Amino acid sequence: MVRETSLSPDDFIHPLFVTHGKGVKKEVSAMPGCFQESVDKVVKSAKEIHSLGIPSVILFGIPEHKDEKGSGAFDDKGVVQKAIKAIKDAVPGLYVITDVCMCEYTSHGHCGIIEGGDVANDPTLGLLAKEAVSHARAGADMVAPSDMMDGRVEAIRLALDDEGFPEVPIMSYAAKYASAFYGPFREAAESTPQFGDRRSYQMDPANRIEALREVALDMEEGADIVMVKPALSYLDIISDVKDNFDVPVAAYNVSGEYSLVKAAGRLGWIDEERMMMEILTSIKRAGADLILTYFAKDAAKILNK
Ligand code: PBG
Repeated sequence: MVRETSLSPDDFIHPLFVTHGKGVKKEVSAMPGCFQESVDKVVKSAKEIHSLGIPSVILFGIPEHKDEKGSGAFDDKGVVQKAIKAIKDAVPGLYVITDVCMCEYTSHGHCGIIEGGDVANDPTLGLLAKEAVSHARAGADMVAPSDMMDGRVEAIRLALDDEGFPEVPIMSYAAKYASAFYGPFREAAESTPQFGDRRSYQMDPANRIEALREVALDMEEGADIVMVKPALSYLDIISDVKDNFDVPVAAYNVSGEYSLVKAAGRLGWIDEERMMMEILTSIKRAGADLILTYFAKDAAKILNK
């Protein structure tokens, strides 16, 4: 009766990894229960997710070919574009969000294009805008830029408006930290940088006030939902963003946070189910309105009991 925080399957956004081919369903080794799936298989997963009462998925693409400019990202016949159409056809009630970034599509694995050995912010913006428009054209309900280039929310907003998609909202990965917790995801999305790291565009884990500046900028540029990522080591940031801005806040319970619990659960060192629910509750208690999590199905099954 006096509990302040309650979880619901409604809170969750389920990440899905779409790969090329047919009949492919390959488990990610460090993320038991998570798969790289071809479009036919991803549609099946989408149906199950929807049937559990989870309202939304976010799609990541693993293209057949990568190149310097990440052209697979804005190919209207790309894996994500095909998956959006197939999911919207088969499960129209499921809200489809797409991750907008270059790292899964570039041969070097960086989130922007490379000029003079470094990631070039401004020349990347046009490519991200093209990618977002291509996703919207395929039927995406919302786009979520995760690259952390400065100015990309505005570039994407203007491009969507120009191309006839003024109603497609933007969820920006606004405060995204350069984190070791992304390790397992990079195996899942095959997006490990081939040189250097992401510290020139993602945030320093030691910084708190800077997160508020990042969020304010993204909101000025037109973000509809702002995200904090990762979640668990950044509950203070989630709480700060919730307290300072009147906008829905999303938190990404990232791959490493999932792998830790799964690994310790497999070793019998923890009560995996209780720990999962406690983690998700704490993220919500900190102020997240939405949680992107690989636990979505497992948690929904418990909540639906
Ligand atoms: C792409 C992107 C990453 C994640 C989401 N989008 C990886 C990264 O920035 O290296 C991480 C998600 C996770 O770890 O679960 N830029």
